[in-house]
This record gives sequence, C-alpha cells and structure tokens, in this order.
Amino acid sequence: MAAAGSGSFRNGRIASKHLRMLVALLVVSCCLGHGFGDEDHVEVEGISSSCMESERRALLAIKSDMYDPGDRFSSWTGKDCCGWRGVACDNTTGHVTKLDLRYPYTYDIWDGNYPYIYDLWDLIYNEERIGVSKVNPSLQELKHLKYLDLSMNNFSHAPLPKMIASLVHLEYLNLSYAMFHGPIPPQLGNLSNLHYLDLQGWYDYHLHVVDLDWLSRIPSLKYLDMSEVNLSKAINWFYVINSIPALEVLRLSDANLPYVPSPLPPFNLTAISTLDLSGNSDITSAMLRWLSNATSLEYLLLSGCGSLTIQSLQVALGALSNLKGLDLSGNSLKGEIFELLNNVSSRGLKHLDLSVNQLSGDIPGSLRDLEYLDLSWNFNVTLHILVSLGNLTNLRHLDLGDNSISREIPPTIGNFVRLEYLDLSFNGIIGKIPQSIGNLSNLVELHLSVNNIVGWIPPSIGNLTNLVYLDLSWNNIVGWIPSSMGNLTNLVCLDLSWNNIVGWIPSSMGNLTNLVYLDLSRNNIVGCIPNTLGTLIHMEQLYLFNNRISGQIPETIGGLLNLQMLSLSNNLISGQVPNTIGRIHRLQLLDMSYNNLSGQIPTTLGDLCNLTRLDLSCNNIGGDLTNLFYGLSTCSQGASISSLDLVLKGNNLSGIIPSIMGQLSQLYEIDLSSNSLAGNITEAHFF
Ligand SMILES: *[C@@H]1O[C@H](CO)[C@@H](O)[C@H](O)[C@H]1NC(C)=O
Ligand SMILES: *[C@@H]1O[C@H](CO)[C@@H](O)[C@H](O)[C@H]1NC(C)=O
Ligand SMILES: *[C@@H]1O[C@H](CO)[C@@H](O)[C@H](O)[C@H]1NC(C)=O
Ligand SMILES: *[C@@H]1O[C@H](CO)[C@@H](O)[C@H](O)[C@H]1NC(C)=O
Ligand SMILES: *[C@@H]1O[C@H](CO)[C@@H](O)[C@H](O)[C@H]1NC(C)=O
Ligand SMILES: *[C@@H]1O[C@H](CO)[C@@H](O)[C@H](O)[C@H]1NC(C)=O
Ligand SMILES: *[C@@H]1O[C@H](CO)[C@@H](O)[C@H](O)[C@H]1NC(C)=O
Ligand SMILES: *[C@@H]1O[C@H](CO)[C@@H](O)[C@H](O)[C@H]1NC(C)=O
Ligand SMILES: *[C@@H]1O[C@H](CO)[C@@H](O)[C@H](O)[C@H]1NC(C)=O
Ligand SMILES: *[C@@H]1O[C@H](CO)[C@@H](O)[C@H](O)[C@H]1NC(C)=O
Ligand SMILES: *[C@@H]1O[C@H](CO)[C@@H](O)[C@H](O)[C@H]1NC(C)=O
Ligand SMILES: *[C@@H]1O[C@H](CO)[C@@H](O)[C@H](O)[C@H]1NC(C)=O
Repeated sequence: MAAAGSGSFRNGRIASKHLRMLVALLVVSCCLGHGFGDEDHVEVEGISSSCMESERRALLAIKSDMYDPGDRFSSWTGKDCCGWRGVACDNTTGHVTKLDLRYPYTYDIWDGNYPYIYDLWDLIYNEERIGVSKVNPSLQELKHLKYLDLSMNNFSHAPLPKMIASLVHLEYLNLSYAMFHGPIPPQLGNLSNLHYLDLQGWYDYHLHVVDLDWLSRIPSLKYLDMSEVNLSKAINWFYVINSIPALEVLRLSDANLPYVPSPLPPFNLTAISTLDLSGNSDITSAMLRWLSNATSLEYLLLSGCGSLTIQSLQVALGALSNLKGLDLSGNSLKGEIFELLNNVSSRGLKHLDLSVNQLSGDIPGSLRDLEYLDLSWNFNVTLHILVSLGNLTNLRHLDLGDNSISREIPPTIGNFVRLEYLDLSFNGIIGKIPQSIGNLSNLVELHLSVNNIVGWIPPSIGNLTNLVYLDLSWNNIVGWIPSSMGNLTNLVCLDLSWNNIVGWIPSSMGNLTNLVYLDLSRNNIVGCIPNTLGTLIHMEQLYLFNNRISGQIPETIGGLLNLQMLSLSNNLISGQVPNTIGRIHRLQLLDMSYNNLSGQIPTTLGDLCNLTRLDLSCNNIGGDLTNLFYGLSTCSQGASISSLDLVLKGNNLSGIIPSIMGQLSQLYEIDLSSNSLAGNITEAHFF
C-alpha cells in the first residue's frame, strides 16, 4: 500500500508539473507567431528594402545546416532577408544585426535524458528527437551581428565553435540547451560588448571550462548563465565574477563550483538582482555573510546546496531587504521556520520555497505579500500552519503536501480566494472538505489525496469552474458524486479512486469534455456507465474497476477514440463487449475481467494492434478464438508494441486453439485456462 501510494504520488506530482507546463506553453505558443525580426525590422527607403547579397547568401548557407522539422524557414524566400523571420537589419547600414534561430518548438527541459514535445490538447508527450544541426562557417560573414540565439537546437556534441568569438559586436549570445560539448573557448572573452551570455547546459556537464579568466574581459556583462556547465576547474571563479560589477543576473546552478577559501574579497556586485547558486555543495557561511551586502538582490536561489544551516542563512536573509523570491528547497535545513525567516523583511517577499527540508512551526503572519509558498516535504509542518497563514490572503500557490498535518481543514480556507494551486496531499488530514472550498473560484489544481478525509464531496465544488486537476484519491470520502461536478468543464484530470463513494456516476459528467484522465476505481459506485461518457473524446485513461457498476457497456464507448487505458474489471457489468471498442485503435490496456459479460468476443478486437494487455477473464464469454487471433495476427510486425498479454481464462470459450496463434509475434503471456478449449499449445504455435 505504501509503495502504491508513493507511486501515485509521483505520478500526481509529475502530472501536475506537466499541467503547469501546459499553462506556460499556451502562453509561449501564443507568442511564437512573433519572430524577433518582425518588430525590429524598420525599412528605410532605398537602403534596406533588400539586404546585402553577401549576407543573404551567408544566411542561406546557415539555414542549409539547420534542422527544420516544419516551416521554421518558410519566410526565408526572396531578396529581402531583413524581413525573414528571426532576422533583423540595421535601419541605416542595412547589415544583418540580429539572428534568432532558437529551436521554435517547446519541450520539457526538466525531464532526464531527452526533451518531450507536448501535444497540448492531447496531453501526450511524445518522445521526440530533435534532428542534428551544424553551425555553418558562413556565420562569420555576419560581422555586424549584435544578437545571436542558437538555443534549443541539437548540435549533437559538436565543439562550441571558436568562430563565434570573431563576432565582436555581439551584445546578446544565447547558446543554451544547444548540446554543444567540450571546453568553452576562452576566445569568447573577445566579445567585450556582450551584455547577455547564456550557456546553460543540459542536466549533465557537456560543456566545461579550463578557467574563467576570459570572463573578466567582458565588463559590460549584465546576464550570465552557466548553469550545468562544469566549472570545477575554475578555482578563481569567485574573484572573476566579483570583478564584473555590471552583473544583474547570475545563474551558476549545478556548476560544480569549487570551494572558495576565506577571506573573501570585498563585495563588488552592486547591481546584482538574481543569484542562482543552486545545486552547488560548497556554499560557505563566509559566502553568505559576504552576500549580505547584496542589498539590491531580489531573487536568491540556493536549492540543494547541502551544507547550509539556519544560523548561516539568518545573517544574509536579514540584510536582503529587497528580496522578492527565495528558494531554499532541498537543503535538509533543521529547525523552526520562524527562526529562519525571523529577520526577513516583511515587505515584498512573494515567492518562498522551503520544500524538502526538516523545518517545523509556523510562517510569520507578517509576510503578507507572499503569493507562492511551498512547504511540502518537511514532515514536521503541522496543521497549525493553516491557521498561521490567516493573513496571507495574497497566496496563489500553496503546497503543504507530504507533511504531518493531522487535523481538519479549517473553513477559513475559503478566505484564500486568490489560490490557484492548493496541495495538502500526503498528510493525515481528518474531517470533511469544508463547504467554503467553493469560494476558491480561481483554483486550477486541488490535491487532497492520501489523507483521512471523510464525509461527502461538498456540492460547492461545482463552483470551482477553473479547476483543471482534481485529486481526492486515497481518502475515506463517502456519499454520491455531486452532479455539480459536471460544471467543472475545464477538468483534465479527475481522480476519486480509493474512497467509499456510492451512488451513480452522474450523467452530468458527460459535460467534462476536456477530461483526459478519469479514475473512479475502488469505490462502491453502482448503476450503469452513463452513455454520456462516450462523448469525452479527449479521454486517454478511464478506470472504473473495483466498483459495483452494473448494466451494459454503452455502445458510445467506441467514441473515445483517444483512449489508451480502459479498465472496468471487478464490477457487475453484463451484456456483450460492444463491437465499437474495436474502433479505439490506440487502446493499450483493455481489462474487463471479473464481470458478468456474455456473448462472444467481437471480431473487431482483432483490430486493436496497440494492445499490450487484453484481459476478459472470469466472465461468461463464449465462442471461439479464430477471428480474434486472425485479426491480431494481421497487425504489422514491429508495431509500436512488442508484447501482448492475453488473459481469457475462466470463460466459456470453445473450439480448437487456432494454430494461427503462432503468428502472433507479439504474444508475451497467454492464459486460456478454465474454458472448454481443445487442442494443445505446442511449439508449433510459436514458430
Ligand atoms: C533606426 O533605429 C534606431 C534605433 O533602433 C531609431 O532610434 C531610429 O529612429 C531609426 N531610424 C530610422 C530612420 O528609422
Ligand atoms: C541529438 O542528435 C543526436 C544524434 O542524432 C541524437 O542521438 C540525440 O538523441 C539528439 N538529441 C535530442 C535531444 O534529440
Ligand atoms: C536563452 O534561451 C533559452 C531557451 O531558448 C531561454 O529560456 C533563455 O531565457 C534565453 N536567455 C536569455 C538571456 O534570453
Ligand atoms: C570591483 O569592480 C571594479 C570595476 O570593474 C574593479 O576594478 C575592481 O577590481 C573590482 N574589485 C574586486 C575586489 O574585484
Ligand atoms: C559590506 O558592507 C559594509 C558596509 O558598507 C562594509 O563595511 C563591509 O566591508 C562589506 N563587506 C564585504 C564583504 O564587502
Ligand atoms: C520533528 O520534530 C521533533 C520535535 O520537534 C524532532 O525531534 C524531530 O527530529 C523532527 N523530525 C524531523 C523529521 O525533522
Ligand atoms: C494578522 O494581522 C493582524 C493585524 O496586523 C495581527 O494582529 C495578527 O496577529 C496577524 N495574524 C497572524 C496569524 O499573524
Ligand atoms: C459559489 O460561487 C458564488 C459566486 O460565484 C458564490 O456566491 C457562492 O457563495 C459560492 N458558493 C459556495 C458554496 O462557495
Ligand atoms: C452547477 O451544477 C448544478 C447541478 O448540476 C446546476 O444546478 C447549476 O446550475 C450549475 N451551475 C453553473 C454555474 O453552471
Ligand atoms: C450537463 O449535463 C446535464 C446532464 O447530462 C445536461 O442536462 C446539461 O444540459 C449539461 N449542461 C451543459 C452546460 O452542457
Ligand atoms: C497505435 O497508436 C498510435 C498512436 O499512439 C497510432 O498512431 C497508431 O495508429 C496506433 N496503431 C494502430 C494499429 O492503430
Ligand atoms: C494434446 O496432446 C496430448 C498429449 O501429447 C494428446 O494425447 C492429444 O491428442 C493432443 N490433443 C490435440 C487436440 O491435439
């Protein structure tokens, strides 16, 4: 049970992260239409109506080496290269000054070895490879470039080209996530006009430096990101960085930063506003004291730094009076929250992440500007926290998951009307969900899974019409699903599994047209599967197993053309397996075991070539297997799925086991026991 619980937690966590990505991506994708060049290009009569021919040819050569899965370069036609998407020219000289070749498709850069490209509405993340690009030598012809962005392309472990260092007018250089490999050429120090340098790498160190001295030749640098670049050889990194007082944004997370011995040089970064040193284990107390002079600092990120203590942080935090965002997650900090935040300026702090520590106690009620608070995974945070949050009514994001909150959710939760995200999962919460939850009309995600919540789902939940994600699983919720649930038309994921819910599935659920995931399993739901469920065409996973659902499976179920997982097992369902199921070509799991199904296996099931498991065991299904096996055997070999479990035991199947079974190359496990089948399964069936 514990294992299953943590499994479902992980999925929930991952899924919700993806949802947030979705929201972010929607914004991003709305912006994609506007290439950088579009706004910047100003035509001056007689000069830039078309660009320089030599530069145009250089651009075409560059393009020829770039991977293009779609229409990245569709506007790159005709003479006027200054009007091409991603290109901009100087309005008096006509020279190309800007080249934005950022890979235009968004993918999830958080996930392990390779990115995922999202199919927004389907919520499918297909693993997708980005084809290889090369940096064409013609790039050095564009001598007047001020802005160059090659980020997110796949340069497939090529060395970072030294030639870029000849583009001495560059003010903006973005090579992040571009999969370059090897040493960063110190020649980049020639780019003395740079304001922005982004070299952020993937999760593992593809890029490294031998030293960082070259950086001090770029005194105008305002923005530097070398996260995930291996800086372990840059012994003097601290001194180099400190010699660039123009720096406003410095990101060196997971950079393997070497230890800096005391005494430290006088603090010089007077303009610094964002500092991210997360994931480096050698952040010393001396460094934190030094930081307390960073009075312009707004965002401080020290997540996963290992060696921090509350005492060493107190000094710096007390001095940083302009702090807006603070991330101290994953540091195993031990002690009282209050002690840590005691000296933090009560004004202005909006974003606070203290997750994955061992903190306890309350949040100071004085932090009224807080909008984002993550205290998940602290284990010792108790329910008192919800009371102490009383004044923090600006909160939009509140995550108290994985703590030891073991009392009721107070009705005052309804005061947090700005909340968009509320996570109280994996605690020991008791009592009912208060009716006042219906006030939180801005909620997008509500996570209450794995608690001891009792009582009915309040009908006021139907007020939360912005909800996209609702997870009440693994509680002791009783009563009916309120029909007001049908008002939540933005829901994408609904999980009510592992409760004691009774009554029918309300037909109003058919209004939840955005549902992708519906899990009502392990309850005591009775009645029929409503016809209306068949209209939820985005549905990919539908779990109704372990209930007391009766009646027939509606024919409309065949309308769920995106369904991949369908489990109706352990119910009282009767009648035939509808033919229409054979239309759902994406089905991978079809489990109708332990019901009262009768009739024959529809021939159409043989069309389900993506199946990895077909389980119809323990029903009263009759007929023979010839048609099913014949159908499955015509699935092309090497289909996306290479194994099939076929579990048909405990039925009334008759006839001879067809020899064609040998042609089911994908067959993995088969159980045909307790039927009236004749014949032997021999090697002849498999070869
Ligand atoms: C050229 O661009 C500069 C800055 O981008 C702008 O200030 C200037 O007005 C423009 N000149 C013309 C003639 O459009
Ligand atoms: C980049 O290209 C290489 C070589 O084709 C490939 O192995 C790798 O998977 C690609 N990376 C991504 C993220 O697509
Ligand atoms: C560089 O590109 C990445 C990915 O495209 C982007 O997230 C980042 O904000 C860019 N950096 C700067 C300084 O604009
Ligand atoms: C502080 O910055 C100035 C200006 O770049 C530089 O001359 C000086 O050496 C720096 N001080 C330290 C201690 O690095
Ligand atoms: C911080 O500032 C104070 C006062 O301005 C100064 O005395 C002290 O030396 C500075 N500390 C560092 C590390 O620069
Ligand atoms: C929780 O708090 C108690 C006492 O306040 C302490 O003994 C215990 O170590 C804490 N547990 C964790 C995981 O921090
Ligand atoms: C909320 O603010 C009021 C007035 O400023 C204050 O008296 C009260 O202690 C605060 N409540 C909490 C829980 O901090
Ligand atoms: C539901 O929302 C309406 C306004 O949208 C509000 O008047 C009502 O009090 C809410 N109901 C509950 C139970 O929160
Ligand atoms: C919400 O659902 C209830 C019951 O289904 C219905 O009476 C009510 O009109 C719905 N409210 C809204 C705002 O759609
Ligand atoms: C919601 O579902 C109910 C029952 O199926 C139906 O009567 C009602 O018209 C639907 N409402 C909307 C807004 O679609
Ligand atoms: C299997 O599923 C994929 C999408 O996941 C789909 O493109 C393909 O057509 C399906 N195969 C069959 C035989 O329907
Ligand atoms: C199955 O095998 C047994 C023993 O090898 C044999 O006696 C029997 O005739 C076979 N049945 C069929 C239908 O081939």
